[in-house]
Amino acid sequence: MSSIKSGSSDGIKLKKELGLIDGVGIIVGVIIGSGIFVSPKGVLMSAGSVGFGLIIWILSGLLSMIGALCYAELGTMIPKSGGDYAYINESFGPLPAFLYLWVGLLILVPTGNAITALTFAQYILQEMWTCTPALQYGAVRLLAALVTCLLTFINCYNVKWATRVQDIFTGTKILALVMIIASGIYMMFTTGFNVFSEKAMEGTRTEPGYVALAFYSGLFSYSGWNYLNFVTEELKDPYRNLPRAIIISLPLVTVIYVLTNLAYYVVLTKEEVLKSPAVAITFGDKVFGSMAWTIPFFVVCSTFGALNGAIFASSRLFFVGARQGHLPQAIALINVNYYTPVPSLIFLCVMSIVYLLIEDVYILIDYVSFVEALFTLMSVCGLLWLRYKNPQANRPIKVNIILPILFFVICIFLVTLPCYVRPMEVGIGLLIIISGIPVYYIFIEKRAPFLDRIGDKFTETCAKMFMCVLQERKDS
Ligand SMILES: *[C@@H]1O[C@H](CO)[C@@H](O)[C@H](O)[C@H]1NC(C)=O
Repeated sequence: MSSIKSGSSDGIKLKKELGLIDGVGIIVGVIIGSGIFVSPKGVLMSAGSVGFGLIIWILSGLLSMIGALCYAELGTMIPKSGGDYAYINESFGPLPAFLYLWVGLLILVPTGNAITALTFAQYILQEMWTCTPALQYGAVRLLAALVTCLLTFINCYNVKWATRVQDIFTGTKILALVMIIASGIYMMFTTGFNVFSEKAMEGTRTEPGYVALAFYSGLFSYSGWNYLNFVTEELKDPYRNLPRAIIISLPLVTVIYVLTNLAYYVVLTKEEVLKSPAVAITFGDKVFGSMAWTIPFFVVCSTFGALNGAIFASSRLFFVGARQGHLPQAIALINVNYYTPVPSLIFLCVMSIVYLLIEDVYILIDYVSFVEALFTLMSVCGLLWLRYKNPQANRPIKVNIILPILFFVICIFLVTLPCYVRPMEVGIGLLIIISGIPVYYIFIEKRAPFLDRIGDKFTETCAKMFMCVLQERKDS
């Protein structure tokens, strides 16, 4: 296979092209998708009152910040791309790491991408065009597939373009939310509305079950804070920029989320928020008048940016998995002209489009939150385990031990709650995870030589087709 190894003495590697702003763009851009515009009501429904809902939003932001700080320690201690995959590998060995890759491949990544792309397509077509539901259904899927291909192409062609897209669209969504916040503040002064009246706490539900569900929705709205850890190797000066990007992004998202919710409640009553199919649009209709069309436009921009960030980051997860020998080696190839993981991006694109064909892809979201929580629990367990097993290791960022312990408890809660609320989904989720074990033993551990030969042929074919080489393995 020497022909596909890179010849030059430097070796071909993914370049370090991401600065601090790009890092913030990825974290904020991936966390803020369409949720805050479309359905920020999960928290409200369980919290019961506006005031208590806002408290849950603030606390969820703080708890996510704690999780992200733990990942700052992990990411600077193990400065490898792949995020959770690399940390689980380092702490618990290759099999659990493979299982993370397995569910990432089967559920987490393609489901997330498909749903983001569908939201994008729905909001574009809703505005431009009405027709029969059947035609609309097909058109939405087609447009979702097209946008996935377009962003895959940009990501294949140039890392700089992909990060530029990310920065611009993250900027746009922050601008949109600042617009909503500003008009909320304006309305507050003109109508004399007082959010902090005693009525704000009316209807608060303090039963532990409801509080737990409210937190569950709240924390889910912040998910995505670990995405920058997927691309650690491409960060310039990762020891500084990874923790900094985390420390800037999470408070920023928390403040934006809380103020946007406040703005909604200045204009809309609790009942209106609960009834609205898309809260920001109801808000825009009331406040922006003839400019109300800007809101769907911003939802489109926001999902476009979120999809770009997710494609960029998760392609690196599969790339790293293949480099490790956990996926066909072809996925670890790098294009010699553009320095991008073209086969991994194309593979991810195909997976996402397959998921677009599933009629009820939204159902899969119930598995996503549980499975994601389970592996986050494993990563933070890994942090605690490495502190014990390897106390002298170099940790450029070392958080107070209370933080990972606290976050560990939160993860336990996030994992056990669905066992009561959705035992079916938890069971199936676990089955999908376990199904990776025989796959691991058959295809990776005890791989028959003939599989290797097929793999080599396939790698060579892909290398020629996409003008790629494998990264030299001399780096530590
Ligand atoms: C997984 O762990 C092994 C052994 O510690 C190490 O050689 C390998 O580089 C790790 N892989 C990743 C992707 O972190």
